[in-house]
Amino acid sequence: MRTLNVSASRSYEIRIGAALTESGEAIRAATGAGKAVVVSDSNVAPLYLQAVLSSLHAAGVEAVGAVIPAGEASKCAEQYLQLMNFLIEEQITRSDALVALGGGVVGDLTGFTAATYLRGIAYVQIPTSLLAMVDSSVGGKTAIDLPGGKNLCGAFYQPWAVLCDPTVLDTLPADFYADGSAEVIKYGLLRDPELLELLAKNDREEIIYRSCTIKRDIVQQDEHDNGVRQLLNLGHTVGHAFEQHSNFALSHGRAVAAGMAVITRAAIAHGECDAAVLPALLQALEESGLPTEATAPLSALTTLLRADKKRKGDTITLVVPEKLGSCCLKKLPIDGLEDYLRPGF
Ligand code: GLY
Repeated sequence: MRTLNVSASRSYEIRIGAALTESGEAIRAATGAGKAVVVSDSNVAPLYLQAVLSSLHAAGVEAVGAVIPAGEASKCAEQYLQLMNFLIEEQITRSDALVALGGGVVGDLTGFTAATYLRGIAYVQIPTSLLAMVDSSVGGKTAIDLPGGKNLCGAFYQPWAVLCDPTVLDTLPADFYADGSAEVIKYGLLRDPELLELLAKNDREEIIYRSCTIKRDIVQQDEHDNGVRQLLNLGHTVGHAFEQHSNFALSHGRAVAAGMAVITRAAIAHGECDAAVLPALLQALEESGLPTEATAPLSALTTLLRADKKRKGDTITLVVPEKLGSCCLKKLPIDGLEDYLRPGF
């Protein structure tokens, strides 16, 4: 097992290779909880919930499961309140803990519930998708969606531990694995081009370790997303517009993949990026079965791009690739955004 230490407003370990069947002792050690509610979804619970509950019982922690319907629709205010009420029924106190057993939806909802129940209780992330292992479980971004948009209600609230068992990826459907690969390719462009080769070799443990190392380093520098953490939005400004334009029929990873292809083409056209980035990116996207072209015309995205929640006043900060393994932040007036992106489409 490999361990990474995150030193942010809370210090915690990311354990990569931690067996799910032995998670109980790690949860007990990290939180000191007397009782734990393990939140999972209708896809993951039948596969892994019992193993985590049994492991908690074996570690002397009372444990119950709470299963939500799988899918983004569960990251909503209604589900959040249902979960809160369940915690009250179960008489969960500040000396207890939540465990998020699932992908990004379960992690974000559980984290936000932990951040706000009794003004904050302990929680542990056990990510079961590649995307959650390399991105959403690390760094303390927690949220639910509002009718007005994704992640609009949330908190920065670091977990007490992150336990990654790469063997659970064996049961992850290929489409979901590809979604996580888009975020791994993002880290390749941001900091570590060898990740593109590791993806081709499918070296999962190393992929997770290196991706989490990059995310850890960035979060430690800028926990609250005011500076360098914005680099993690590579491909996301255009990607979110693609995702929303499709009414979320296009998955997040696919949208980000298309967004990275667009911003890379645009940056090359503006003379800001080494042309060698594009073939390397397109090859990695193709090998992962991800889109390599815009999934909607620029003209259809105007309103969505202007409403991006990363916009600050009349400016927006784009993440622009410079060369393989290096990107920069570029502040643009919102009125100049479409002109900048046009050559990418
Ligand atoms: N997923 C982007 C971030 O954690 O900042």
